[in-house]
Amino acid sequence: MDHSVNALLGAVANRLAHPDIAPAQPAWPVPATPRRATAAERRIHFATMTEADLDTVHAVETSAYTHPWSRKHFHDSLLAGYPAVMLLGERLPGERPHPTRSDDRLPLGYLVAMPGVEEVHLLNITVAPAHQRQGWARFMLDALVLWSRGQQAQWLWLEVRQSNLPARRLYEQYGFNQVGLRKAYYPAGALQREDAVVMSLNLIASAHTREAAP
Ligand SMILES: CC(C)(COP(=O)(O)OP(=O)(O)OC[C@H]1O[C@@H](n2cnc3c(N)ncnc32)[C@H](O)[C@@H]1OP(=O)(O)O)[C@@H](O)C(=O)NCCC(=O)NCCS
Repeated sequence: MDHSVNALLGAVANRLAHPDIAPAQPAWPVPATPRRATAAERRIHFATMTEADLDTVHAVETSAYTHPWSRKHFHDSLLAGYPAVMLLGERLPGERPHPTRSDDRLPLGYLVAMPGVEEVHLLNITVAPAHQRQGWARFMLDALVLWSRGQQAQWLWLEVRQSNLPARRLYEQYGFNQVGLRKAYYPAGALQREDAVVMSLNLIASAHTREAAP
């Protein structure tokens, strides 16, 4: 399993959470993702998703989607060795603990990706409903783009439900282009299916992700 993505994502997040602590030789460029003030106040870090996180992930997943991944989807992704990371944030004063966690961390979001030859496929990116519209998805995409470039990937691919307008807006605004449509790709209620919009981002051409100033 290639855990290096998790270490690298962690380095990015820790650097953002502690901007005064610069590693001697940063292994990865740091995304300078603009975030809303409420998010910027929070100390955050990435953690490798493990079996122990699946209660948390499943709780967030079912709260965020009408057609969520099952635990088995996540379990199989971990077994396959796909890079899977959780974005955790320290609880702010007044925030309740997350029911699935015994520590003072809140799950802000997570992503699961699948590396290929010169490309990376984003399988799942989710931000917990209570933390949406604070820039966390863009932040996770920035980190993934930086990591993917570090793997010499040239393309980032994904599929998104045609009806998922918030996600489509996110990807379009980020610089992804629609490159196809998969007919009846997703389940959509009793005996119904929904098309998937296939989108890609050229990691070489896009100068989207900025690095933070040293
Ligand atoms: C889609 C999703 C990941 C966005 O996460 P997020 O952290 O709220 O997104 P960000 O705050 O980083 O938003 C970045 C941009 O995306 C777009 N966007 C995000 N949510 C949006 C919404 N509800 N409506 C319209 N545009 C939206 C906006 O352009 C936004 O920029 P702005 O805030 O400056 O206008 C989140 O809504 C989510 O987890 N949804 C459920 C799971 C899902 O659909 N995942 C994607 C599967 S393909």
